[in-house]
Amino acid sequence: MNNENFLKELHAFMQSKGFVYGPFPELYGGVAGFYAYGPLGKLLKNKVENSVRNLFFSNGFRELECPTVLPDIVWDASGHLHTFKDKIVECSKCKAVFRADKLIEEFTNKEAAGLKDNELLKEIKKIKCPNCKGNFKEEIKRYSLMMKTEVAGKPFSLRPETATVTYLSFKRLNEYFRKLPFAVFQIGKAYRNEISPRQHLLRCREFTQAEAQLFIDPKEKNNWEKYELVKKEKLPLYTSHHQEKNLKLENISLEEAIKHKHIKTKAYAWCLFLAYKQFLSMGIPKDRIRIRQHLDDERAFYADDAWDIEINLNSFGWTETCGVHDRIDYDLKKHSEFSKQDLVATRDDGSKFIPHILEIAFGTDRPTFTLMDLFYEKKEEKEGKSMFKIPYNMAPIDVAVFPLMKKDKLPEFAKKVKELLEKEFVVDYDENGSIGKRYLRAAESGAPYCITVDYDSLKQNDITVRDRDTEKQVRVKINELKDKLQTGKLTELF
Ligand code: GLY
Repeated sequence: MNNENFLKELHAFMQSKGFVYGPFPELYGGVAGFYAYGPLGKLLKNKVENSVRNLFFSNGFRELECPTVLPDIVWDASGHLHTFKDKIVECSKCKAVFRADKLIEEFTNKEAAGLKDNELLKEIKKIKCPNCKGNFKEEIKRYSLMMKTEVAGKPFSLRPETATVTYLSFKRLNEYFRKLPFAVFQIGKAYRNEISPRQHLLRCREFTQAEAQLFIDPKEKNNWEKYELVKKEKLPLYTSHHQEKNLKLENISLEEAIKHKHIKTKAYAWCLFLAYKQFLSMGIPKDRIRIRQHLDDERAFYADDAWDIEINLNSFGWTETCGVHDRIDYDLKKHSEFSKQDLVATRDDGSKFIPHILEIAFGTDRPTFTLMDLFYEKKEEKEGKSMFKIPYNMAPIDVAVFPLMKKDKLPEFAKKVKELLEKEFVVDYDENGSIGKRYLRAAESGAPYCITVDYDSLKQNDITVRDRDTEKQVRVKINELKDKLQTGKLTELF
């Protein structure tokens, strides 16, 4: 069940403080599933994307950028054209249509992913149409998620994932890297014709993905050196066995998971670890994360094994924020068949094989929403003001600069400090209202530090830095400020 009140409050906060606007375009009434990022929201999303980019780069992945619109032969080959469909139900009174599983999850406490048609119908009978309170028809239909268009009179579709488009360059990539394994990723838009999206940024019709693809010799999947470095790490693995037997979530080491065959290969275990680590490095508390294995009925058509990183959100409960898939040779085989070209790699001994693909599929809208959901705090006791207690490394604004008073050359000095810092940091400048109000406004944007220029600053060439969370203040010399912010030395002072 959604936490409706919290969601309403969060939505209002996002709109009014410049994080997320929509449904877009508001001016013309808005269309569900489309949102715009305002100045703070875009800064936050950039932080998320750069953090994912850093994760991939620091593990040897290379970035690509490919088209978002492709001829339908691509989607016929990938399977999306005929298989990428949602199960929907229609209201017999007002004719509104809804995604069956999401409706059940929204209005009951049941998880509905992977339910069969008859199981879905059993639950749907208990729910009234959210639009008109009518009953639903007793029929589950299929609805394609592909967004169609035309190019030069021919049928094309907007990509529903970046992954497939990455695979189309396999021959070129194989030539470039010369040897397997190699890994690439794309950060870019994808589109899905969601039937009735009702979950804010979590289910958009246009959204951003950050998907990495590791091309690997199937014989090497259990000979993966990097696994040795992480095998003792304990992860909150919610295996299909645990789910089926209703067992409690436990932290299991990757080594144990491999031993008990919850995870089939070492390379895949390493991918799961990378995805999990990403959420820790964005500051998501461990007790909010679980890694849930897909049940047999739930897996996408291309996946041999699939696990989701799920975060327990205040608004929507456990929510998928990243999927890790073993796509085996499914995609390259299909594209080979449809393009009539060999998509193979060659081993040192001259033998040929179709590579397997391991995929780490992040969205970037969902982690951005997650950060707002988990770190937004309403502070009734402080004049009803809210706070955005985002971890410092993910804050959209690095530092806010204020003159104590709007006179006596304090604004001129403060503007100089702002100009000095904004070459390297994202800086807000605010000279209006009491200093207390300005601290509160900065806290709403999540800025970790506020710098105040006062009368002593003019004489001593220093300023006051106030820490968001401890509310402590220290004086710092102007010529040391940049270095202290850059190296994170400021945190040591509080
Ligand atoms: N590429 C996997 C996904 O879109 O979920």
